[in-house]
Amino acid sequence: MSILIKNGKIITASDTYAADIHIEGETIHSIGKNLEVQADHAIDASGKVVLPGGIDPHVHLDMPFMGTFSSDTHETGTLAALHGGTTMVIDFILQTQGKSLYHALETWQGRATGNTFGDYSFHMAVTDFNENTRKEIVEMIEKEGITSFKTFMAYKGALMIDDGQMVDLMQEVKDRGGMVTVHATNGDMIDKLIAKHRSEGRLSPLYHYLSQPEITEEEASGRFVDMAYYTDVPAYIVHLTCEGAMNQVRRATQRNQKVFVETCIQYLLLDASLYEKDFEGAKWVMSPPLRQKKDQETLWAGINQGLVQVVATDHCPFRGEQKLMGRDDFSKIPNGHPAIEHRMELLWSEGVVKQRISPNKYVEVTATNPAKIFGMYPKKGCIAVGSDADLIILDPEEEHTLSSQTHHMNVDYSAYEGWKVVGKCKTVLLRGKVAIHDGKVLIEKGCGKFVKRGKVSKVI
Ligand code: URP
Ligand code: ZN
Ligand code: ZN
Repeated sequence: MSILIKNGKIITASDTYAADIHIEGETIHSIGKNLEVQADHAIDASGKVVLPGGIDPHVHLDMPFMGTFSSDTHETGTLAALHGGTTMVIDFILQTQGKSLYHALETWQGRATGNTFGDYSFHMAVTDFNENTRKEIVEMIEKEGITSFKTFMAYKGALMIDDGQMVDLMQEVKDRGGMVTVHATNGDMIDKLIAKHRSEGRLSPLYHYLSQPEITEEEASGRFVDMAYYTDVPAYIVHLTCEGAMNQVRRATQRNQKVFVETCIQYLLLDASLYEKDFEGAKWVMSPPLRQKKDQETLWAGINQGLVQVVATDHCPFRGEQKLMGRDDFSKIPNGHPAIEHRMELLWSEGVVKQRISPNKYVEVTATNPAKIFGMYPKKGCIAVGSDADLIILDPEEEHTLSSQTHHMNVDYSAYEGWKVVGKCKTVLLRGKVAIHDGKVLIEKGCGKFVKRGKVSKVI
């Protein structure tokens, strides 16, 4: 099957130019002006922009968490992602403390294999570092193509590891060619604040926010950065939200250290005033919580300064009835919010259209950098001869409104209800197949493939 995309404006992380794209099978065969090719199928992209398919490197699909499961499965989550222009996700496997990494991998394979619409990979969350884990890390990297290892400095008793385990893990991962990523908040401080608020009868969602002040993230980010400096491991901070944490990264640059930073769309666009809406605030209960306007300014600046390399979602949706588990106690509200479908269009609208970032920076943070950082470039994350034909044809001017009535995520509310967005994904291609066109799904469950990733480094 061959496809010719004609008359589009191609945007990559480095260039913007008008050209046609000829796809043969799953990959891009050639790119050029006025290509004379007899293709099986032609797409006229006049007036549209052609972008690399989005890669969301931070999603939680069908994940057991806080006594329930995140409500998007690998099927519903990857389909919703495709509707919004994200052709690949990296999902999180959680090791159960006391059990092996392979036990966790097999559990997640059971959920994902054959069930995805879009392409996917896994990060492995190490919650129990021991001698067996050490051996399995080599196998994950060499055999399974899982080259990033997630750590939690919070969620004590379930996911958190201590600093001794962190340093041991970092040394092993560094020696084997992998990356350590982190949820960097100080779990002990947070648990103390949660206990204090609960004992004083302060139980509404606002106290979720007040239990995780900026300093809890600033402190843990600084500690993680220091341990990464000491071990020299490629290091990546997930969902960085605030000025204090950003300044820890700035401090690291002063000693010539390189740390990768991801923020998420919600931290750029939403703020903590949403927690003042009484229980409705539960919709935005996530960790770290939403912050202040000044933190949004820091994050936009961080993107433009090249200190923030990735904009992800931390998609971890829970339906209204699941959020109600914390009706009388904020600490029981499942943490997470839905965004997998909206990241690409929201960032286009709020970032590019409002001229906070350039179109090329947009491609860099949504596709190219995730592919480079996590060992998939140039197979993924770019428009180039030989790369997978994962593409978005986006109408840069079409306006639409986000709503739970029209979204495809398996969640009965929208965190962005009523948001007016400029820019719509009209056609989405996954490895040379038209997956979505004008809102219609043209591929089947099982089309998504697991992507084995290569070794990583601090140099991208
Ligand atoms: O609230 C969040 N972020 N839920 C998902 C788990 C995590 O910490 O990333
Ligand atoms: Zn987290
Ligand atoms: Zn997460």
